[in-house]
Amino acid sequence: MVNIKIPFTFDVIQGDPMGLSQYDSHITRRLSAMKGMYLDEHAFAALAATSDPLLYEFYEISRPAVTGELLHGLSIVHPGKVGDEYYMTKGHFHTILETAEFYYCLRGQGVMVMETPEGVWAVESLQPNRALYVPPRWAHRSVNTGSGQDLVFLFVYPGNAGHDYGSIEVQGFRKLVVERNGKPEIIDNPRWLSPKDRS
Ligand code: F6R
Ligand code: ZN
Repeated sequence: MVNIKIPFTFDVIQGDPMGLSQYDSHITRRLSAMKGMYLDEHAFAALAATSDPLLYEFYEISRPAVTGELLHGLSIVHPGKVGDEYYMTKGHFHTILETAEFYYCLRGQGVMVMETPEGVWAVESLQPNRALYVPPRWAHRSVNTGSGQDLVFLFVYPGNAGHDYGSIEVQGFRKLVVERNGKPEIIDNPRWLSPKDRS
């Protein structure tokens, strides 16, 4: 744990997997934590029956959850697919909707899938040395579309933002990222309902 009252530095460890020289928490999400989030339920069940692979993990440096602070850390999305759908994070809105997030990609190939509560969507590609700004109000999910390499990025967001997984856990994002003919393709999520059609 760093002394939160004085300036500090930390280093990105350039290993495989990458890491941080110091952190307060290391959170891992395996397939079993993603039940209902992949479209192909048969592929999900078949994979779950044989193993419980690690889909992604992230390291966080704790900061007080208050306005003015910045929470930050490193995320790693591992390569792989459930059916045709690439390994991805759960994705979330921030509980305080009007809070943004900044990402900086260090390794791998991927995309960030984003949408607003009204259903406006956007997908931006992630590659090493590319920065991404997620404005306030946009839910975000990172997807590893690379073959065989981790997708790794640094993230920074306001200390008071919080995470709201609610609607994403129920119906996912409006767009899915799947492999077609060996390439990533963005398709409609058939389970997604527009805000006016939700009960
Ligand atoms: C924080 C943020 C990232 C993600 C991480 C895991 O606001 O966007 O640090 O938390 O990549 O994703 P989720 O939280 O969606 O499981
Ligand atoms: Zn976030």
